[in-house]
Amino acid sequence: MRKILVIGAAGQIGSELTLKLRDLYGGDNVIAGIRKTKPSEKITGTGPCEVVNALDLEGFVAVVKKYKIDTIINMAAILSATGENKPMLAWDVNINGLINVLEVAREFKMKQVLVPSSIAVFGPTTPSDNTPQETILKPGTMYGVTKVAGELLGDYYVKRYGMDVRGLRYPGIISHETPPGGGTTDYAVAIYFEAVKNRRYKCFVNEETRLPMMYMPDCLKSTIELMQADFSRLRHHCDFNVGAMSFSAGELAASVKKYMPEFEISYEPDDRQAIADSWPDSVDDSAAREEWGWKPDYDLDAMTRDMLKAVNARHEKGLI
Ligand code: SER
Repeated sequence: MRKILVIGAAGQIGSELTLKLRDLYGGDNVIAGIRKTKPSEKITGTGPCEVVNALDLEGFVAVVKKYKIDTIINMAAILSATGENKPMLAWDVNINGLINVLEVAREFKMKQVLVPSSIAVFGPTTPSDNTPQETILKPGTMYGVTKVAGELLGDYYVKRYGMDVRGLRYPGIISHETPPGGGTTDYAVAIYFEAVKNRRYKCFVNEETRLPMMYMPDCLKSTIELMQADFSRLRHHCDFNVGAMSFSAGELAASVKKYMPEFEISYEPDDRQAIADSWPDSVDDSAAREEWGWKPDYDLDAMTRDMLKAVNARHEKGLI
């Protein structure tokens, strides 16, 4: 059985991925690596939880030894908007943290490392419609710079050391368990929470802004399917485009309105507009489909129905 360490297990993706992996591999075999953010009771109650900061090598290695970790999933990252406010912090966490993860994995001969990437690897000169797998990678954000470097580093460890390192270029991820923090695509999550709480939302990108997005169940499915894919079938490793849906902020609002007619939206673009404008409208994920059978389940309306139901339930319980 694998012994998996999820770094960033209190984050938007990490928190749900940890629970899903515990279902699959057993609670004791999935160690939640947390830092400053307090993990939920679901995380602390279903398996081991340790403080892990990839920048603190000594503490990180102690956890690896204690649990005989053979798989690391590195979900810790500074996202795009925070990264523009604190570029050096983004570099430190996203690059120095990552190289420590890769080096520790190499030293301890780990079975697998997952290093997530993002649509932020693309930039204003990348073709934005159905963005190809192989294309121009000239991002305009520090987050994007670190993600391009992260893909290259991961691929380097595959080639140079024969390690099993994998990763996907996540689109904006929408979920209701743990809020995202400091990202540009956060509006697509906030809209549901504000709709339920206040019946209105002031959106920080304009109505026409179109981005690739994915609902959390598809995010978990893509991550686990890539982890479980036969390594010998992979021609790519750390840079898979994965698509699910693509919609404008206006279309997202229309989907919410369909199920909540009284919902109102206004638009007040801020600095994040330029970041959103530099990212693709949609991505071509045929490499993921061919190499490991990727296929998403959710479209916009299916996600909206699910999100509104889940967020409403939490609101009724007084949790938000
Ligand atoms: N969700 C991320 C962000 O907005 C993109 O990967 O920064």
